Amino acid sequence: MLIAGNWKMNMTRPEAVRLATEVLSKYSPTDSVRAAVCPTAVCLESVGAVISGSGIGLGAQNMHAADSGAYTGEVSAAMLKSVGCDYVILGHSERRQYFGETDAGVNGKVHQALSNGLTPIVCVGEQLHEREAKRAEEVVRNQTEGALAGIGLSDPTTLVVAYEPVWAIGTGVTATPEQAQEMHAFIRSLLVSLLGSVGTSVDILYGGSMKPGNAAELLSQEDVNGGLIGGASLKADQFLAIVEAAQFA
Ligand code: 13P
Repeated sequence: MLIAGNWKMNMTRPEAVRLATEVLSKYSPTDSVRAAVCPTAVCLESVGAVISGSGIGLGAQNMHAADSGAYTGEVSAAMLKSVGCDYVILGHSERRQYFGETDAGVNGKVHQALSNGLTPIVCVGEQLHEREAKRAEEVVRNQTEGALAGIGLSDPTTLVVAYEPVWAIGTGVTATPEQAQEMHAFIRSLLVSLLGSVGTSVDILYGGSMKPGNAAELLSQEDVNGGLIGGASLKADQFLAIVEAAQFA
């Protein structure tokens, strides 16, 4: 199980340090659940210093696919590694929606993350109109196959996939546990056909209005192996309540 907090574009550096400090002060590591926080790029180093040695992982929210060069405003995998990142969220629906990210673009970033020793958290998920048109599986298949094209894995912990139905993000509407399990099982079958048997052990996170009140039920589903938490990760108590729910799921 992995519970990762996506802090999105929230919190200045002092605020981020305060939140990380509060999370750390109430966090007790367990063998069954890993926790990670993903602050903005400018807060990675200072949040990383707070959680260093605690077992809480550090993740970025995006990166560029190239090694280095004339890409003003961008951040590379090696830069993220050098400030202590373990994870990088790639292909989040907000990046697809507002910044024009494509499956091919995400694929380049996934290759780059893996070759730099960063674990990508690859986000997939359909929009409401696509679900209503019964195209959810087709959309998720295209995103998953596109993002993971040409990837070979020997260690399943080096890749994480997050199913985030766009209609559930920041809306307070969650997928039902049955809807989540159904799509996670479908993603599991895609991972096995793309990656072979290693695909059976890749964590598939659910994201979209996961809160302390609904986490246990979602996380108890067979193919729901954790959560990617937005709003609730900005409150230490709520984030840790979800981490605790994962321990008993
Ligand atoms: P919310 O938990 O705020 O719905 O956000 C989910 C998300 O987008 C995590 O990446």
